[in-house]
Amino acid sequence: MLILGIESSCDETSVAVVENGRKVRANVISSSASHFAAMGGVVPEMAARTQLECVLSVLQGALQQAEVQLGDIDAIAVTAGPGLLGSLLVGTCTARVLGAVRKLPVIPLHHTLGHLYSAWLEQPSDPKFPYLCLSVSGGHTELWYCQSHLIRTLLGSTRDDAAGEAFDKGAKLLDLPYPGGPALAQLAEQNTAHDLHGFTRPLSGEQTLDFSFSGLKTALLYLLRDHPTYKTERQAWVAASFQAAICEHLVDRIALACSAHPEICEIHLVGGVSANRTLRTKISEVAHSQHKTVRYPVQSDFCTDNAAMIASAGFFNKDSQIETFATFASGSLAEQGRQNS
Ligand code: KG4
Ligand code: ZN
Repeated sequence: MLILGIESSCDETSVAVVENGRKVRANVISSSASHFAAMGGVVPEMAARTQLECVLSVLQGALQQAEVQLGDIDAIAVTAGPGLLGSLLVGTCTARVLGAVRKLPVIPLHHTLGHLYSAWLEQPSDPKFPYLCLSVSGGHTELWYCQSHLIRTLLGSTRDDAAGEAFDKGAKLLDLPYPGGPALAQLAEQNTAHDLHGFTRPLSGEQTLDFSFSGLKTALLYLLRDHPTYKTERQAWVAASFQAAICEHLVDRIALACSAHPEICEIHLVGGVSANRTLRTKISEVAHSQHKTVRYPVQSDFCTDNAAMIASAGFFNKDSQIETFATFASGSLAEQGRQNS
């Protein structure tokens, strides 16, 4: 089964063709991130206008790369929410028009559900249920217990900032360019000092699987205020310390969830922050110590927003996505799971 995926929830426009939920025949991504770098963030109206201009050429590019025509496609999966309204409209309108003209089913999907499937793309073997999935991006931080394709439970989520947002805000405090996560990670890799600054671990005394990052951001703000020279003279050390604190908090929760659910076979790490090498190393250590398989998206462009993950989620969830677009764009993925069941 060939599914055409469309993703346009933020500043990317992406179209993919995925076979049976796993094999990526094409995954074309047009990003305006470099354009927004100079502005320090995404301007929603400008993002939507750029997406409107490029969506058809991205679609054409994906069909060409996959060596298929629209007539070969069996269904269209599209991100229906959450995201920037104008940006989402570009993707959903494109999907609906293609669906109406070619008489194809259109599957509206929650963006987070797409991320959960990025660790199913091009894997050497199929993941085994039940597994834990930590989804960390600029907009959300969620820990899922995945029992089957249709049954999943949200074990914990962030109480304030998302992990990617913490990276981005930390990067801003260090005067690094947008998007801050990759820039901060790159800087942290230049650190040569062994002793890192010890940021207080968030929620360390609590037996919760929730996350919290806003305290870390404030601690970094105060550290730089109290030691103004750190920003220039010890920038890599500060970046490495801040990155370590974020990663340790995420890994703490994974370790706690593994103890609570010893039956899980695998740990998946997905979302934009899953590209972070330090986080991968730390999560692998926990997974191996607990004899679990660890999986990440196999390519870096499957970590950040892309349409291949949306096509994959569409394939595996096509029978359960019964909401209309109007109800789908609002509410969390967990709420939608409850409505479905
Ligand atoms: O999944 P994604 O592309 O978009 C959302 O759904 O939000 O994630 C983007 C986030 C940004 O906050 C970005 O700074 C972060 O992922 N990110 C990283 C790295 N690459 C991307 N954070 C830390 N280390 C990285 N290597
Ligand atoms: Zn995303």
